[in-house]
Amino acid sequence: MAKVISPDSAGIEFAAKTLLDGNLVCIPTETVYGLSADACNEASVLRIFQVKNRPVSNPLIVHISGKERLTDWAIRIPEYAWTLVSKFWPGPLTIILRKSKLASHLITGNQEYVALRVPDNLITLKLLEQALSLGVYGLAAPSANRFGEVSPTNTKDLLAGLEKYLSSDDLVLEGGKCRIGIESTIIDCTSKLPYVVRPGIISTEEIYHALKIDMADSITNAQLISIRKKNIKSPGLAQKHYSPKAQVSIGPETYPGDGFIAFAEIPTPIGAIRLASPLNIEDFARILYSSFHECDRLGLKRLVIIPPQGAGIASAIRNRLFRAANIPYTSLNFME
Ligand code: TXA
Ligand code: MG
Repeated sequence: MAKVISPDSAGIEFAAKTLLDGNLVCIPTETVYGLSADACNEASVLRIFQVKNRPVSNPLIVHISGKERLTDWAIRIPEYAWTLVSKFWPGPLTIILRKSKLASHLITGNQEYVALRVPDNLITLKLLEQALSLGVYGLAAPSANRFGEVSPTNTKDLLAGLEKYLSSDDLVLEGGKCRIGIESTIIDCTSKLPYVVRPGIISTEEIYHALKIDMADSITNAQLISIRKKNIKSPGLAQKHYSPKAQVSIGPETYPGDGFIAFAEIPTPIGAIRLASPLNIEDFARILYSSFHECDRLGLKRLVIIPPQGAGIASAIRNRLFRAANIPYTSLNFME
């Protein structure tokens, strides 16, 4: 049973020492909560895998305090990766680069590549700086949920999933609700051109725009896909994922007693239990996972969702919904 602490300066100082001592700290980020450990302490990182029940072949993102720390963890950083981090960090972007010696094979899933991110959350940025001053170069942190379950966007949902697996020396930093609500966009930056591994709030369009790459260049896209296939493995991006216990179904058909999530303007079908009524697409992302957790608390057997349509954030949300429903996702499932 971990201690929940408030993120004032004494709390953050205590959390940094806790990490240095080899314990785990659950951290708020703008996307979802993370379960963090000193990325250079193998015993602590192993505990992340145990607490999450996650296979060690599945690599972890290293969270750092700023882009100046990139060269601690990565080598041969392409110019376009610097452009991306200058534009999007701190923020919901993770980049994959060739690893330096500092990055152990335990955090990279035994590959030569490491994933890095600077989160846009003041509490966690302060913690990262404080930890760095104690000699902790980065925090390995997957989402703070059991493997295959739903990422938490508040500490209540986090504790419901992990409390019994954390120890009394571990901490949870109370950071309120996550601003974005779905995980970061992951970009593979190990080839000549970037490749979007996991969609997120920062869209492929924005990435290409920032790098002045022409989206319409289909030859380039085909080349990218073939490069990627030969390249890195992200086992965590396996099809079934992000699921509540209820069976998730993509609407519109509902049965009495089903949970129901749709934009506010769509009426609740007779007999269905409304779990969320997002007003806009950002709202949809923000409340999606807490609605999944609520669905489980209510013990519902089925959850019907009317997905948002269109490109950008809508596409990132559909990616999560299709995985939760165990349906193969391609961005072509809907008109972009
Ligand atoms: O928003 C986020 O990214 C959150 C917050 C806590 O930062 N973190 C998160 O971590 O979603 P996680 O572990 O739940 O998802 C990261 C995904 C996994 O599917 C993992 O397989 C992939 O990123 N990944 C991590 N490191 C990698 C690497 N070196 N190469 C390829 N894939 C990697
Ligand atoms: Mg996760």
